[in-house]
Formats: sequence, structure tokens, C-alpha cells
Amino acid sequence: MSGKENFKFKILDFKDLERVMEIERLSNPTPWSIGSFIDCINSNYQNILLIKQEEIIGFCISTINYTESHLLNISVHPEFRSQGMGQLLLNKSEQDAKKKGVSDIFLEVRDSNEKAIEFYKKNNYKNVGKRKNYYRLSQGREDGLIFTKHMNLSSLESISRFSLFFLRKMLNFNRG
Ligand SMILES: CC(C)(COP(=O)(O)OP(=O)(O)OC[C@H]1O[C@@H](n2cnc3c(N)ncnc32)[C@H](O)[C@@H]1OP(=O)(O)O)[C@@H](O)C(=O)NCCC(=O)NCCS
Repeated sequence: MSGKENFKFKILDFKDLERVMEIERLSNPTPWSIGSFIDCINSNYQNILLIKQEEIIGFCISTINYTESHLLNISVHPEFRSQGMGQLLLNKSEQDAKKKGVSDIFLEVRDSNEKAIEFYKKNNYKNVGKRKNYYRLSQGREDGLIFTKHMNLSSLESISRFSLFFLRKMLNFNRG
């Protein structure tokens, strides 16, 4: 991707909701309500926005619960799709989650959402099950596929985490 310096990330704020709702309506057959996004802000979820030249072009929202994360929503404005933007968002979301100690990510995706399924498979998410009739449709319901990804901490990351832990313990011990 060229011009990477034109992109940045920021945390979703109330003032961003109008644009986020616009993207949501263009992305989801049964869009979240504005109240759902407000809940995400108030609950301090991992709410990442992707910005290009001061314009919000996508978002990724996840909950973090100890070592597990649930990816609730990732959407890119249609004008910016298939240009690597979703990938940027997912990378950032995974990196931030990893920093918080997350090792496993879960998500659901509509059975019919082939692009998103490709997107997750490319990123090493594995289909581990199905939730029958999980999603609403304009008429009827549709299954949700459950995908999960285990993020291995590199051996270096594991070693440095444990070393730091024991170093801190030892320092406290020596201080009596
Ligand atoms: C799913 C979504 C976030 C992907 O974002 P994106 O910016 O279009 O994706 P990227 O350009 O970063 O593509 C990354 C990979 O996803 C897959 N992918 C993306 N668009 C695809 C398409 N039209 N067809 C098939 N695979 C596609 C490819 O594997 C692609 O890798 P490649 O470029 O090396 O082939 C975006 O399509 C979107 O907002 N969709 C509507 C909302 C949605 O369905 N969200 C997921 C809900 S679970």
C-alpha cells in the first residue's frame, strides 16, 4: 500500500458517531443502533477508528476479557474496501489486544458473508462452529459462523514477560 503515512488510528469518541453510523448503515444488513455504539464507548471497549486524511473510513470494535477478545464489528466504508484498509484495522486491533494479554479472539460472521469469511480465513481465523439462526435478515434469519484465532505469543515475548515477572518478584524480595 502506498502513502501509509496518510493513515492513522484513533479511539472512537461521541463526536465520531454520525460518520460511524453512516459506515455502519452501508456495511451491515441489520445495522447496529447508535445506542450500541454509545454502549461501546461507555463500556470502554477496544474501539478503533481508521482515519485517512482526517476522515473516518472504518472501525473495529472488540471486547477484551482477560486473555480472550470478542471481535464485535469491523467495517470499512464501501469506497475504501479491497484496498487493504480492513487488514490495517484488523492488524491494529490484534496488536492492541495482544498488548493487553489477549491470546484468543472470537467472532461471528454471517454464513452468506463470503468476503468477510475470506478476510478472516486469510488472517488465520478458523471456523469452529455455527450458531443457528443467529442473525436477523430483512426476512427470516441466517446462521452465524463462529471463527476463532489463537495468537501465539512469540517465544521472545513469552520469555520477556516471564523474565520481567520474576525480576519484579526478586527485586521486591531483596528489598524485604
Ligand atoms: C470485511 C471487510 C472489513 C474487509 O475490509 P477490506 O478493506 O475490504 O479488506 P482488505 O482490502 O484489507 O482485504 C484483506 C483480505 O480480505 C479478503 N477480501 C477482501 N475483499 C474481498 C473480496 N471482495 N472478495 C474476496 N475476498 C476479499 C482478501 O483475502 C483480502 O486479501 P488480498 O487483498 O490479499 O486478496 C469489508 O469488506 C467490510 O467492511 N465489509 C462489510 C462489513 C462486514 O461484513 N464486516 C465483517 C462482519 S463479521
